Amino acid sequence: MNQKLITVTSPLLPELDEFQGLLKEIWDSKWVTNNGQFHKQLEQALCEYLKIPYISLFTNGTLPLLTALQALHINGEVITTPYSFVATTHAIWWNGCKPVFVDIEESTCGINPDKIEAAITPRTTAIMPVHCYGIPCDLERIQAIADKYNLRVIYDAAHAFGVEVNGESVLNQGDLATLSFHATKVFNTLEGGALVMHDAETKKRIDYLKNFGFAGETEVVAPGINSKMDEVRAAYGLLNLKQVDEAIEKRHQVAMRYREALRDVKGIRFFDDMPGVRHNYSYFPIFVDAEQYGMTRDELYFKMKEQGVLGRRYFYPLISTFSTYRGLPSAAPENLPVATRIANEVICLPMHHGLDEDDIGRVIEIVGSSSC
Ligand SMILES: Cc1ncc(COP(=O)(O)O)c(C=O)c1O
Repeated sequence: MNQKLITVTSPLLPELDEFQGLLKEIWDSKWVTNNGQFHKQLEQALCEYLKIPYISLFTNGTLPLLTALQALHINGEVITTPYSFVATTHAIWWNGCKPVFVDIEESTCGINPDKIEAAITPRTTAIMPVHCYGIPCDLERIQAIADKYNLRVIYDAAHAFGVEVNGESVLNQGDLATLSFHATKVFNTLEGGALVMHDAETKKRIDYLKNFGFAGETEVVAPGINSKMDEVRAAYGLLNLKQVDEAIEKRHQVAMRYREALRDVKGIRFFDDMPGVRHNYSYFPIFVDAEQYGMTRDELYFKMKEQGVLGRRYFYPLISTFSTYRGLPSAAPENLPVATRIANEVICLPMHHGLDEDDIGRVIEIVGSSSC
């Protein structure tokens, strides 16, 4: 079989010529990191594009999670979702806090607000929800619970670049929100990430924290880390920002083709657009009901693979099943029935700006023809 391999994602790359032009500027200036001109420009451009007041750029999407917990002095227990990339829970653990897993709701794959209150103890200090696949969590109910119990909310918004609810960025919700600009994301800087905050004071503190805690040449005000974004990646990001809307629109077209073709396939479920939400189509998860579909999720996954179509079982296995976390009382599968089922049903289909009609047709052909 000599068919082209269809990958689950593909990085959005700037025009090489344009990038070379900016590299030349960096070479000429010899200013390659530490809040250079492209770093400043990208922060400003992202604030405008994302409709957010303040942002701080990072070297990946994991360090903003770690830094957010540090910045807010979070300790004790942090309520979170097991249905995410493992970095979400690792960040809690690395801060010496105890992750407490709460089940998700099927309608968003985000943390289920109905289950949060029962997980709160006198040691709970924060909630760390995830806008899984860029689908907004139940923002209002999460904030209401946080207000009632005086908890901080840090959104892992790694998937939610450009996502808005009723014209407002989801990144403005909670105390802080984090982004990932990894190569697999809608907007990428190769590796990269950011923290979004509401005020200048918090930005100043986070800018210190990502630069070893330095507040000037000779003063260190906090036990910081080194997680600054360099000029090369900031320049790359500036170029990608110019084409991200077009890339999101291409993803939207792919999502519409998948939905149209797979809507009547028995045993396959997927998300539709939500009213009032600007989606970014970062992923196209489908959920396989093996009994109705006539094939298990894994059978379909390997069948796709055999035919050169790479899906991704994202998020499987659940974070709560990994050896570091499975001993926690909240990690028990009986505590997480929805997440446990969804993790066994999900495959993310190929989704990126570069898929052409043939690629989409091949994916649809395989997924659409597997039912009995
Ligand atoms: C939900 C979530 N959080 C955090 C991260 C970590 O981001 P990064 O890979 O940029 O460190 C990812 C990365 O895939 C993610 O999907």
